[in-house]
Amino acid sequence: GSGQWLMEKRASFKGDSLSDNENAPETGCLSIVVLGASGDLAKKKTFPALFNLYRQRFLTSNDVHIFGYARTKISDDQLRNRIRGYLTGSKETEVSDFLQLIKYVSGSYDTEEGFRLLDKEISEHEISKKSVEGSSRRLFYFALPPSVYPSVCRMIKRCCMNKSDLGGWTRIVVEKPFGKDLDSAEELSSQIGELFDESQIYRIDHYLGKELVQNLLVLRFANRFFLPLWNRDNIDNVQIVFREDFGTEGRGGYFDEYGIIRDIIQNHLLQVLCLVAMEKPVSLKPEYIRDEKVKVLQSVLPINDEEVVLGQYDGYRDDPTVPEHSNTPTFATVVLRIHNERWEGVPFILKAGKALNSRKAEIRVQFKDVPGDIFKCQKQGRNEFVIRLQPLEAIYMKLTVSNSDISIMIAIPEVPFIFSVEDIACNVKQPGLEMSTVQSELDLSYGQRYQNVTIPEAYERLILDTIRGDQQHFVRRDELKAAWEIFTPLLHRIDNGEMKTLPYKPGSRGPAEADELLAKAGYVQT
Ligand code: NDP
Ligand code: BG6
Repeated sequence: GSGQWLMEKRASFKGDSLSDNENAPETGCLSIVVLGASGDLAKKKTFPALFNLYRQRFLTSNDVHIFGYARTKISDDQLRNRIRGYLTGSKETEVSDFLQLIKYVSGSYDTEEGFRLLDKEISEHEISKKSVEGSSRRLFYFALPPSVYPSVCRMIKRCCMNKSDLGGWTRIVVEKPFGKDLDSAEELSSQIGELFDESQIYRIDHYLGKELVQNLLVLRFANRFFLPLWNRDNIDNVQIVFREDFGTEGRGGYFDEYGIIRDIIQNHLLQVLCLVAMEKPVSLKPEYIRDEKVKVLQSVLPINDEEVVLGQYDGYRDDPTVPEHSNTPTFATVVLRIHNERWEGVPFILKAGKALNSRKAEIRVQFKDVPGDIFKCQKQGRNEFVIRLQPLEAIYMKLTVSNSDISIMIAIPEVPFIFSVEDIACNVKQPGLEMSTVQSELDLSYGQRYQNVTIPEAYERLILDTIRGDQQHFVRRDELKAAWEIFTPLLHRIDNGEMKTLPYKPGSRGPAEADELLAKAGYVQT
């Protein structure tokens, strides 16, 4: 009857933020295997993230062991010495204790020999921890080029799985790029999908681990402020911007194969777009959240070439690993249009570039002009809500106020934030008593508000999520497919040389045509 239905429904909402693995006891001993341990990502991101989790006691030597695996023939100590310099901000003894948890196994990516050896090492660790067979947890982190993902998956499946299912698990964490276009991504997904269930696969997009990206759903859905405003009736345009003030330094060869759309826009910026634009999920269950993200992606209309500007910075081709006539964009502005009730007519402008004038990632939500504006003659700017993802995380609102001293505090109960008015933009104070308006900012700068809090690195959070079995911040297979569907036709046109890449000066804002496109899309500089 309805009572039973209600009970089941209530039960399904309990532990909302956990995944389908929520009932698995997380007690068995844990082996973390970093594949490609000799590489760049492993030393710069993966091992330091593991170290920070260790420092904060999320990983303890009681149950965790870390294995590095790659072809390079080095000893445990040689690997440890390569990593040591990247483990900062801690006492030397803590660093040494952590490094002692790491063991290195050398082997190839496509033969069983190395993986059998790896399995033996993992099993020895499990036995030493008296872990009941089948109850242990094995996490494989792919810090490897995607070309070897399928063979590595096959080897793990054959040689290294947690032996049975007494509450333990085997999970794999894979890095981008997941393919180069729709077909190659689908092929990769099928190859991996034949060997592992979706619940075992964690496709990492490190933007989903950034503090302010993780905050988006809370901001949008826990604040009454935003609920009635977040739609086409009030919002004129949305920009999601990524800038770097350095070029492809040392990664030219990789980059030239991919370009800025595949490197940044199709994944990082599109993931942010999903969180800005999606409808409210049924609850915080990862599957509900990912369902809503997929729906938004599926509502994106085909990209119009007129709403794309591509650029390549002068000097990019000087890199010896970049072909002389490369047309690969290092800059792109692309307007996406979402065909649904909430967003029809609102341009989502995604912009990313290397070798620009600053390093910054931000979301700018620009509101429409005030109707029947009685202050028009004062020419104030529009309201804008800005979320700066990096550097110096901040959330601020640009608003128009009368030009006099101001001091307002607004506390929002649902989130532990206090917005304080910082009179940053208000530096031209008119003398006298006449009425005038200026643009000012309600500003929540994390550095000021949370002075003693260190914001965790994206990789730290995400690795912790993989251990806890929470897939909320990972890309599901259908989401990935929908993302490639949006960009593949454009990417193919670029690859075929049908789209022109405009030159721009390193250290500039990118091609001037991008600003023109922005203005055409409705953005008003405030
Ligand atoms: P590397 O080029 O450093 O490769 C990692 C390791 O893989 C190498 O040490 C090497 O180990 C092995 N390897 C390299 N090339 C090949 C090959 N052709 N065939 C087989 N094995 C190879 O890559 P990164 O560490 O930079 O990146 C790893 C993954 O993470 C990639 O998918 C990359 O796109 C992604 N990524 C990297 C970022 C970064 O900042 N570096 C940022 C975001 C994503 P050995 O020879 O010892 O076996
Ligand atoms: C990576 C890209 O995914 O993200 C790099 O491959 C880019 O090209 C990097 O530099 C930017 O990450 P972050 O966290 O520094 O913004």
